[in-house]
Formats: sequence, C-alpha cells, structure tokens
Amino acid sequence: MADKREKFGGRLAVILAMAGSAIGLGNIWRFPYMVGEHGGAAFVIVYVIATLLISLPVFLAEVMIGRRSHTNARDAFARLSRHHPFWKGVGFLTILIPTLIASYYSVIGGWSVEYLIKSFGFAFVRTPPEEVSGLFGAFVSSTWMPLVMHLVFLAASVGVVAGGVKSGIEKFSKVSLPVLFLLILFILVYSVTLPGAGAGVRYLLHPDWSQLTPRTFAYAMGQSFFSLSLGMGAIITYGSYVNKKENILATSAGTALSDLLFAILAGFAIMPAVFAAGVEPGAGPGLIFQSVPYVFSKMGADLPLLSGIVSAVFFLAIIVAAMTSLISLVEVGVSFLMERSGISRGKACLVLFGICGTLGTLCSLSFGPLSGVTVAGMTIFDLLDWICSNVLLLVMALLAVVFVGWILPRSVVRDEFTSREMYAFNDRIFPLVWFLIKWVAPVAVVIIFFTNFIL
Ligand code: PFF
Repeated sequence: MADKREKFGGRLAVILAMAGSAIGLGNIWRFPYMVGEHGGAAFVIVYVIATLLISLPVFLAEVMIGRRSHTNARDAFARLSRHHPFWKGVGFLTILIPTLIASYYSVIGGWSVEYLIKSFGFAFVRTPPEEVSGLFGAFVSSTWMPLVMHLVFLAASVGVVAGGVKSGIEKFSKVSLPVLFLLILFILVYSVTLPGAGAGVRYLLHPDWSQLTPRTFAYAMGQSFFSLSLGMGAIITYGSYVNKKENILATSAGTALSDLLFAILAGFAIMPAVFAAGVEPGAGPGLIFQSVPYVFSKMGADLPLLSGIVSAVFFLAIIVAAMTSLISLVEVGVSFLMERSGISRGKACLVLFGICGTLGTLCSLSFGPLSGVTVAGMTIFDLLDWICSNVLLLVMALLAVVFVGWILPRSVVRDEFTSREMYAFNDRIFPLVWFLIKWVAPVAVVIIFFTNFIL
C-alpha cells in the first residue's frame, strides 16, 4: 500500500509545489498592506526574523511529520503516536481546517475570475474612477454570478488535483509558478514607472521603528504562518510526497525564500500604483478588488490599451496564485479520503468539490441574501476566515510543533532532518533546529495567541 503512494519528482518539484501552496492571496493583498501599516521596512525585518526563527522550524516540523509518517495528515499523527487517542483527534482537525479554508478561499478565487472577465471587456477602463469601486459591491452582493464563479474556480482547482500528485499538482506548479513571477514582474515595472509612484515605494521602504510593538510581532508571525500555509495540514500532506533522500532543509528554505520574494515583489507591484492613483491603501478584498481597479480606471484615461492589458495580467496572476494554494488545501482532504476509505482520487475529488462547493456557496451568499445571518457580528464568510486564520491555524501549528519537539523521540527527528545522516550540514545545525522546535516556536505561538486576544 505504502509503495503505491505518489511522490514529487525532485527537489525543484517539491519547492515549486510547496511555494505554489505558500504563494497566494496572503502575499498579494495582505502582505503589502501590513508592511505599510506596521512600519514599512521595519515590519519586513521583523517578518524575516519571525520566518527564520519560528515559521521555518514549524514548516520543517510539518514536513517531517508528513515524510516520516508517509501518509495523509489525519493518519500521520495517529501513526507516529502509535494511535494515541488525543493525537488521533488532532489529526482530524488537520482535515477539517483546510476544507473550511478551501471553501471561502475559492469564493475569492471566483471573484478574481469575474474580474479577469471584466478586464477582458475593458470594464475598469470604461468605468469612471469614482464608480469603479462600486462594481465590487454590486457584484458580490448579487446572488448568482459570484456563486457560479466560485464553482468554476473550485472545479478548475479540483480538476488539477484529480490529475494526481505528479501529473496534476506537480505539472501545474512547474508551469504556473514561473509564469506567476513573470506576471508580477510585468506589473511591477508598470507600477513603479507611473508618475507619482515614488510615494508607494517610500511607503514600503521607510522603516518606522516606532511602529514596532508586541502586536507588530504577533501580526508578523501570524502573517508568516498563513503565508507559508502552516497549521492547515497542507505542508504535512505535501511533506508525505517528499522523497526520503531529499534534503528537507533545502526545500523548506527554498519555499520560504520564494514566498518572501513574491510577497515583496507583490508589494512593489501594487503599492506604487495605488499611490500614483492617489488611493488610500485599504486592507483585504478592498485593496485588490476596489483600489487596484481604480488605478486601472484612472490610468486608462490616457493609455486605455495598456491599462486593460495590465488589469488582465493582474487578475490572471491572482487566479494562478490562488489556484495553486487552493489545490494544496483540497489535496489534504483528497489524500485522506483516498487512504481512509479506499475510494479513487476522482471520487475523492468529487466529494471535496461537494463539501467545499456547498460551504463556499454559503460564504458567497453571505455577501448578498445571507448578509443578515451573523454570529457575534460576523457574516458566515468573516466568521470562517476569523476562526481559521486567528484561532485554528495557530492551535494546529502549535500542536504540530509540540508533537515533533515533545512527542517524537529526538533521534527520530534528527534522522528525518538529516535524511538518515545524508547531509552533514543539517547534522551540524540540528541542535539549533531542535532548540527552535522544542522551545522557541511553541512559546512564540502561545505568545501570539494571547497577544491577539488580550492586547
Ligand atoms: N499560503 C496561502 C496564501 O498566502 O494565500 C494560503 C494558504 C494556502 C493557507 C494553503 C493555508 C494552506 F494550507
């Protein structure tokens, strides 16, 4: 049975698939905005330190859980803990969380599809700047189109997963990731050469040390976790497809580096244009679906064709980035269903499509007919996002790192980290990595958790 499991082709394939999961909406709308709000370059420095000291050890822990157990995220904990009831229960969370996230993530993906279509029709260029942000509200609150787009986007992503690990996920990431970098570079060049773009560059580069509060650290770590797809079973699942001989330090560091690089490029692709158009950079969907189209509308007055092309490239980039991330979320549930109930990949994909399609439908409708349905003042969409990214993700990441640092024997972890003593450098830095996994990362996650809730 174990031998039949698929594997990624090689180091590059692993990095591209994992980077595909990591690089997503988190990089494009959240990172640029957070940098500006929390001290510019000062935030970037904190972010890099948080990634190196905390997220990277958690990332390694998740890859090790996956590769060592050689099974899906749910059974990984059970297998490695010799079926301890607590860890069996934990494993279940690793299936539940990504499935919930996939549901609302694909709703945003659907919006991007609609915006790509709008770009093809030069909708932003043709709409006066002051009316362009209204297009978003009108679209998401309508009942049918967002729903159809959500299902189209989900179906396309599930379709890639149905192709399998090697000929679906790996093949898709190998093409889409390089294309994604090219697309963002194209937008970056357009953005920084606009008149007035300098203010946006300064917004990102100016280090404002006075902004560095405990909250900034908590935000930087939370963002880094989300961006690296931690605490959601995705990296555990992808880790289980990594060859036993692969150097997991190299693949993990390669993933973290690409993710960071892309986030920074996205910042320079978006903020200068937003400033050049004189818009306030807002957070969340507002930034990419309202402020950025405003830029296209404004710039479109002089250069309609170029504006139209850049807007299409921009939404295409978002679609590609979101798709590779959604794929990794769906794969978690698919691998679980296949290994648990023995059903085929195709059938497992259909089940996931059914679940995420239905939950996503509720999320999509929560901007329109279901907007009155709220829990603690949050709509269904906001509630799912809030619970997953502020609570469940942190709990899950903490459990994964505690599992590796405190439950697995040190010798097993060392064996995994060095790929059975194949890599001398890994062996040398193991004591440091062990210390980070055992002490630094768990304590830091607990601190973020309390900072988020108490401060
Ligand atoms: N890392 C993705 C992003 O930055 O948008 C989001 C994500 C994908 C989170 C997959 C979790 C995950 F398992």
